[in-house]
Amino acid sequence: MDTPVLRYADLRDLDALEQLETLCFQEHRYRPEFLDWILRNPRTATLVWIEEGAIIGSVMVLLENGQSRILSVAVHPARRRGGIGRKLMEAAERVARERGATVARLEVSTVNAAAIALYRGLGYRTEGVLPGYYSWGEDAYSMQKKLEPNA
Ligand SMILES: CC(C)(COP(=O)(O)OP(=O)(O)OC[C@H]1O[C@@H](n2cnc3c(N)ncnc32)[C@H](O)[C@@H]1OP(=O)(O)O)[C@@H](O)C(=O)NCCC(=O)NCCS
Repeated sequence: MDTPVLRYADLRDLDALEQLETLCFQEHRYRPEFLDWILRNPRTATLVWIEEGAIIGSVMVLLENGQSRILSVAVHPARRRGGIGRKLMEAAERVARERGATVARLEVSTVNAAAIALYRGLGYRTEGVLPGYYSWGEDAYSMQKKLEPNA
């Protein structure tokens, strides 16, 4: 296998990101218009994990006022539990620090055990519960992590 590549995404990746969203989130995926908005927005960064020329993981982060908000992290179902999600999150945190963020925040469904375990393992702490946060009715945990400056 070729060496995997971690790089910034751009608008040329829209279709591949849409396919990954569908695979990973089904009916709860981001709509193409929102992905388009994210990819065009200078206050967001999207990083993708590429293997054999295909996008198999992504992370999206919004950067504002010294804070960062992880919007989404996703790994192709066939490549999970191999450390890619953690690497993507760590890369997003590095970018956030580079852009001056001192805190990373995120929301996660209270029933998403895999993501909650990923975030806890990276040092995110639960701040509270947001009842009915998602449009489909699930509650969310609000989590955050203090970002130490890049070494
Ligand atoms: C959440 C997600 C991104 C994790 O990606 P991943 O590449 O499988 O994660 P990693 O292999 O880096 O796992 C890192 C740690 O997270 C935890 N973890 C990940 N998946 C887990 C699972 N299914 N059950 C329990 N813990 C899990 C473990 O602590 C794991 O460390 P370990 O493998 O050494 O035990 C992936 O499951 C996914 O794409 N899910 C669907 C999309 C989603 O729900 N995204 C989050 C909300 S935006």
